[in-house]
Amino acid sequence: MDRLKGKTALITGGTSGIGLATARLFIAEGARVAVTGRDPQRLAETQQELGSEALVIRSEAGNLAEIDSLMAHVKERFGKLDVLFLNAASGTPAPVDYVTEDQFDEIVDVCFKGIFFSIQKALPVLSSNSSIIVTTSITNRTGSPNFSVYGASKAALRSLVQSLGLALVSRGIRVNAINPGPIETGGFNRLPLPPEVRQAIKGDIEARSPSSRFGTPEEIAKVALFLASDDSTYVVGEEIVADGGISLVCLP
Ligand SMILES: NC(=O)c1ccc[n+]([C@@H]2O[C@H](COP(=O)([O-])OP(=O)(O)OC[C@H]3O[C@@H](n4cnc5c(N)ncnc54)[C@H](OP(=O)(O)O)[C@@H]3O)[C@@H](O)[C@H]2O)c1
Repeated sequence: MDRLKGKTALITGGTSGIGLATARLFIAEGARVAVTGRDPQRLAETQQELGSEALVIRSEAGNLAEIDSLMAHVKERFGKLDVLFLNAASGTPAPVDYVTEDQFDEIVDVCFKGIFFSIQKALPVLSSNSSIIVTTSITNRTGSPNFSVYGASKAALRSLVQSLGLALVSRGIRVNAINPGPIETGGFNRLPLPPEVRQAIKGDIEARSPSSRFGTPEEIAKVALFLASDDSTYVVGEEIVADGGISLVCLP
């Protein structure tokens, strides 16, 4: 119950799905937690649920000025940061013929550029025994025609955690990634698709998954807890796949 006792954690995209499940688990394990999101209703509901000890901040993950003020806010409240979980993103489908430059830039800003600069801007706040965790996606290994820019950005993160894992380990900062497979979250349920199409996609994924099901946000939160805690002090630059085995059967 005390695996994060005395630690502070910032979770981007902590108002729904994987991030919210992780915030709940980190608090249960003794951490002080800050979370971000954008939607006002989800922000208010999250503050209500996590309580006044939690810092719930509206912050756009791809905007460098907002990342600056987020880090200042966290520093002011916590003084230091032991866990930085960079998890905010959404995987809106974008078939190749229809991707605009604005859409391309938005996906890359949130899924790659914002992650790099969040790490850079967090460095002055991170403690000398800290853990950075980045959420990637199985689309970074399997190829996914309707998620090409998203998958490529998540693939860039796989390289980034290796390079920054090496760059930062001597400062006591570990950098790793979690690579989730299909997880039943608000994000999946909010995909802008007709309900019958979403259900058909879900059925297809379940049929192809060796585990015959989607994962739960709580299953990913437990991987985040491992990487956040001192149980993983010798794990550096790794990407832990938690996908029920689906990437084993989907690899080309
Ligand atoms: N669910 C899956 O099957 C799956 C599979 C592989 C990887 N992932 C990855 O897992 C992570 C979490 O996804 P999830 O399924 O838990 O999604 P989710 O339930 O939709 O939660 C996403 C969170 O990120 C926030 N967010 C999204 N875009 C943001 C932005 N531009 N700036 C700031 N906050 C933003 C959302 O808040 P607002 O909406 O209020 O902004 C929310 O708090 C993402 O990195 C996603 O790519 C998910």
